[in-house]
Amino acid sequence: MSNSATRKILVTSALPYANGAIHLGHLLEYIQTDIWVRFQKSRGQQCYYVCADDAHGTAIMLRAEQEGITPEALIDRVSHDHQQDFAHFGVGFDNYHSTHSEENRHLSELIYKRLRDKGHIATRDIEQMYDPQKGLFLADRFIKGTCPKCGTGDQYGDNCEKCGATYTPADLINPVSAISGATPEVRSSTHYFFKLPDFAEFLQAWINDGHVQPQIRNKLMEWFESGFNEWDISRDAPYFGFEIPDAPGKYFYVWLDAPIGYLASFKNLCDREGIDFDSYWRKDSSAEVYHFIGKDIVYFHALFWPAMLHGADLRTPTAVNCHGFLTVDGAKMSKSRGTFIKAATYADYLNPEYLRYYFAAKLTSKVDDLDLNLDDFAARVNSDLVGKVVNIASRCAGFVKKLGGGTLSAHCAEPQMVARFIAAGDDIAEDFEAREFSRAMRKIMELADEANTYIADKEPWALAKLDGHDEEVLEICSVGINLFRQLMVYLAPVVPAMAEQARIFLNLDSLDWESRHNVLFNHEVEKFKPLMTRVERDKIDAMIEASKEDLVEEQKLKEVPKGPLVEEPIADEISFDDFAKVDLRIARITKAQYVEGADKLLQLTLDIGGETRNVFSGIRSSYAPEALEGRLTVMVANLAPRKMRFGLSEGMVLASANKDGIYLLSSDAGAEPGQRVM
Ligand code: MSP
Ligand code: ZN
Repeated sequence: MSNSATRKILVTSALPYANGAIHLGHLLEYIQTDIWVRFQKSRGQQCYYVCADDAHGTAIMLRAEQEGITPEALIDRVSHDHQQDFAHFGVGFDNYHSTHSEENRHLSELIYKRLRDKGHIATRDIEQMYDPQKGLFLADRFIKGTCPKCGTGDQYGDNCEKCGATYTPADLINPVSAISGATPEVRSSTHYFFKLPDFAEFLQAWINDGHVQPQIRNKLMEWFESGFNEWDISRDAPYFGFEIPDAPGKYFYVWLDAPIGYLASFKNLCDREGIDFDSYWRKDSSAEVYHFIGKDIVYFHALFWPAMLHGADLRTPTAVNCHGFLTVDGAKMSKSRGTFIKAATYADYLNPEYLRYYFAAKLTSKVDDLDLNLDDFAARVNSDLVGKVVNIASRCAGFVKKLGGGTLSAHCAEPQMVARFIAAGDDIAEDFEAREFSRAMRKIMELADEANTYIADKEPWALAKLDGHDEEVLEICSVGINLFRQLMVYLAPVVPAMAEQARIFLNLDSLDWESRHNVLFNHEVEKFKPLMTRVERDKIDAMIEASKEDLVEEQKLKEVPKGPLVEEPIADEISFDDFAKVDLRIARITKAQYVEGADKLLQLTLDIGGETRNVFSGIRSSYAPEALEGRLTVMVANLAPRKMRFGLSEGMVLASANKDGIYLLSSDAGAEPGQRVM
């Protein structure tokens, strides 16, 4: 047993924005973090893993408005979807909270007041673009216009996608608000600033003290040399967030309270489980705190965040662990190529543990981007997990059942080999600890190769056919099962669901790291069931197709006509007989509900007079399900049923759409479900 004292460790992943679905890019981070956390727990450390939805800001406020619901309703729904996605991928948070919570309000105010009272907050008037129609100050990305350099229209904010020019939104020709289309005005208002330069010396020392990876350190030092400014931490009302104490109408900028959300989620956990929060966050804490983040948000985590904590007399992170970006088949994830893959879409087609293993097989402690090459993905999972690891157990389990009645031999035929597999755990642990998962996977697969070679050389299946070799066969296969057990201890942080099935097969209480020291003699195992099946290429292709379908749903909503419908040319003339072919019926919506994994669709149950139809309709952005139930509408009742990913759609309801929303047709009172509409 290890005799070093138990470490107290708090781990976080970045808080996903509450206005979009989790995709495979996000999962790179949550899976990397989860593997590290599971490893720490396997080693017996006291380790907590917390996260939350990042729920504040203009984007979320506008999205809710567009959907005709409150921001609270939006963030509730998204939080539910996010947690479901994480659960599918085995991401085992100890707590999942929200930045829109009482704990976060309290801690944000506390930290802000400490900074203010020490003189680290300044106020000053700034000029900014303002949308007079919406009554809203506009961030750069909400302004569009014509590029002042090359004349390309419809360019957002502060840079041109066509020619790459950078400018301020005020330089745009004919700028308009991307929200309302109104011409923005320049207005002045008072903003609150965090005086980052007060912490220059502290940060310089902190950055050079091993809290960030070398590549990140170098990047930060470049920023340092160009000098840095005070950080604008306030936004004017209307804003979905927390009002700043003693500053009516001013709100904390979302990035001020977002990292405090780490503390808030942990506080929420501590209150529930009686953990001592302060022992983790006071200045002289001996606990370790790690933030896992993507390379796009380094600035916030390695400059503003440590400065805020330090200024507020709290401890700073032990390390900020930064990873690169996910590409798919060598390119940025692309909606049109179907490689912008949502977590839920992936999980409809493929085992999440394939992805966990593939990421582990490629992750290092560096900041390089990581490519999900779909052919390589299938080949790697099939050859390593299925072909090497599962194969050991499936080759041996049958003989143990047949010759030992399910009980392993009473003596170990290869003690040295088993001892070597156990000893390898020390090296592999070092790799996990250092986030060199790729190296750990390579070592584990080398062991798997050795185990397979041993079995292949001994040929238990050939021996079993000869008389008088049963004991020997049982011994060989018992060695095989023991080696398999060692491998599953090492793989458990990576493929927890597969490891759980292996644990049940092995009839063990635990596959924790230390437990591997007991070699299994005379031990009864359970009936073997296949632990993982091969990745099939047609499932991958189907997932890509479904991702393109996700895009079609989104496009349908974007391509709505800009003006009155007459601008769209009227279709070719048809005869009355042609028209009569379309069977339109009055339908009553008896039930409406969200569709898991489809953020555009509602599932409608329609009563058309004695007959019930199930219809999926892309109207979720404009209607809450409750608002639809009981309502009369019109449906095409003889449209050929369409098989969708979520089920069969048996018809279509009629609606129009414009840029403001979708409008479901309804009938005057008195019409009855099932009546024909002509
Ligand atoms: N809400 C902020 C984080 C606040 S933390 C106090 C945010 N959210 S995010 O949803 O955009 O991203 C969440 C995490 O996922 C970030 O660490 C981000 O780097 C990571 N990733 C998002 N897309 C990614 C890839 N394509 N590849 C790898 N990681 C990616 O940023
Ligand atoms: Zn341009």
